[in-house]
Amino acid sequence: MQLINTQKELISYLSSQAKTKTIGLVPTMGALHLGHISLVKKSIGENDITVVSIFVNPTQFNNKEDLEKYPSTLEADMSLLKTASDKIVVFAPSASEMYSGGITSKTYDFEGLENVMEGEFREGHFDGVGTIVEKLLSLITPTRAYFGEKDFQQLQIIKKLKDITNLPIEIIGCPIVREANGLAMSSRNERLSKDLRKEAAFIYKTLKAAKQKFGTKSANFVVDWVKKQFETHPNLKLEYVKIADVSQLKPVIRKNKNLKYRAFIAVYAGDVRLIDNIAL
Ligand code: PAJ
Repeated sequence: MQLINTQKELISYLSSQAKTKTIGLVPTMGALHLGHISLVKKSIGENDITVVSIFVNPTQFNNKEDLEKYPSTLEADMSLLKTASDKIVVFAPSASEMYSGGITSKTYDFEGLENVMEGEFREGHFDGVGTIVEKLLSLITPTRAYFGEKDFQQLQIIKKLKDITNLPIEIIGCPIVREANGLAMSSRNERLSKDLRKEAAFIYKTLKAAKQKFGTKSANFVVDWVKKQFETHPNLKLEYVKIADVSQLKPVIRKNKNLKYRAFIAVYAGDVRLIDNIAL
């Protein structure tokens, strides 16, 4: 296990390695759980070197309180990573190390992908994500970079970022890892009370039922149905539910059998914002 805090040290470590070695990058914000570890394991299986970045990126938080509450658990993260392999390179820089010119984002045109769902409800979020991921990709130039379908919109945006920047990197999407009750694993789950964590299983249960309904019903019908289900759960406040095609993330007007669709959802469980999605 190698813990590196500066860009200079990381470059020097990577350039000391044989040029033929493949590098897998797993960008994270820490507070690691088994969802993150699934990406790390995939990278270890496919590359000679795996770099896991742990950096709570300030520019992607539109809500200051959310940033302040974001857990910082480097020691526990290192222990969990060790269970996957003791050869991982952990890159954990400070904010001033990553943003030496000031904590600001670049502005991107992700062809509309950035304006819906998470982009609509978290202004500037994807400019922040794009900025930090571009910095990491340019710095490390990995062979492959791994992202979870848990943040499906983010995954599609990173694929677009790769096209915009022309970086010769393979972007790999990984399936959502869930808790035993179906709740998508998230660093935010730790902030839920025991009861809410149980109740939040309703989110995935409803997505699964929506998937079934989408077989025979229109997207509008299914969206309305989901909204109604949440009315019976006052502790879970639905922020949005959308059914969109996977490549453009545009809401479905009429189903086209040549397109693939997903249902996307954001829910407040108390003051904790949870997102999830399902392939339809
Ligand atoms: P973070 O929320 O820490 O997530 C890091 C990666 O782990 C993301 O690609 C995310 O989709 C994936 N992930 C999280 N929970 C998962 C789960 N239950 N199953 C599968 N994958 C899961 O996403 C970010 O950090 C940041 O936006 C980042 C890309 C690091 C840029 O700052």
